[in-house]
Amino acid sequence: MRLARIAGTGHFLPERIVTNKDLEKVMDTSDEWIQERTGIKERRFVEPGTGSTDLGFEAAKAALDEAGWGPEDLDFIIFATLSPDMYFPGDGCFLQNLLGVDDIGALDIRNQCTGFVYSLSIADAYIRMGMYDRILVVGSEVHSTAMSMTTEGRDTAVLFGDGAGAACIEVTDGSEGSQFLWHRLHSNGAFAEDLCMPAPTPKRKPWISKEMLDEGLFFPQMNGREVFRNAVTKFPEVIKEVLETQSLTLDDLKLVIPHQANERITEGVRKRVGGPPERVFSNIAKYGNTTAASIPIALSEVVKSGMIERGDLICTVAFGSGFTWGANLFHY
Ligand code: UT7
Repeated sequence: MRLARIAGTGHFLPERIVTNKDLEKVMDTSDEWIQERTGIKERRFVEPGTGSTDLGFEAAKAALDEAGWGPEDLDFIIFATLSPDMYFPGDGCFLQNLLGVDDIGALDIRNQCTGFVYSLSIADAYIRMGMYDRILVVGSEVHSTAMSMTTEGRDTAVLFGDGAGAACIEVTDGSEGSQFLWHRLHSNGAFAEDLCMPAPTPKRKPWISKEMLDEGLFFPQMNGREVFRNAVTKFPEVIKEVLETQSLTLDDLKLVIPHQANERITEGVRKRVGGPPERVFSNIAKYGNTTAASIPIALSEVVKSGMIERGDLICTVAFGSGFTWGANLFHY
């Protein structure tokens, strides 16, 4: 039987650390407010000239190393980002070129915070159906250059950071007890405008204008309370859903790796999941919310720190703009 598993993981964070105190210097906010409301202490920002493809490239090389693959072993690339280097083409094509692989397919996924969860499900499906044997999945974001670093933009500016993570997914027969089990994916477009970037947009003519800039439409617009309210219910709901597809329960889980949106949301997930607090992973204090990159960064960190071993039952779960949400269940 054809199944898929994680062969290697990697991550990359820009060197520059930006603390809450640093943000206090450019907007009306405080370290105390940020830590209390979000759990974030610091985040990483790129230097100008670095894009999400560059970060993704570094993470991809680390994942390839861990898997023991060269770029020439790849059959396909899936790249999840909401901050591509260009409106088009997608980062997947740029990454393929940086990796120096000839003409394999590259797919960009635009599912924001849930991008990596959606991407893993696609990699698993392509491998199960026999289309490919080795797929590179990347989640990478550069937020720092595209946020309003002012008091006006403080509700989002303090949340987001830059970074990238990647995973190599390979075909297996499951005999080693390491395999993807199932995935659950959701979206609800009724909430699309509760977390979005409205411009530039071909719906307006011209599609890009000074008025749009003046209105701040190039910056993320967020109804934080609505996002929060939905996230705390949907995270636990979809974890249970994906477990039920395999007749498993919360007690069977070694680790839940949630998208790092807000420590208070993660705390809510902890309460619903039960067990020791470390069963629900968190690193938001160090990196903030890195959208599609947060799960692969976390995954790579837990592998490197020895927190998980081959065969452990893991659930990766996300909620974000769209609204989109979903979960992957796998034996690492
Ligand atoms: O991956 C998905 C991405 N998004 C999320 O996960 C966001 C989910 N939502 C949240 O995390 C929270 O809603 C926030 C952290 C964004 C905001 O926390 P909150 O407890 O919902 O605060 P609030 O929006 O109700 O604002 C409370 C107060 C307001 O002041 P007033 O009206 O009470 O005087 C805000 O203006 O806090 C003010 N405020 C800030 N103060 C200092 C908002 N942002 C800041 C800030 N620093 N950065």
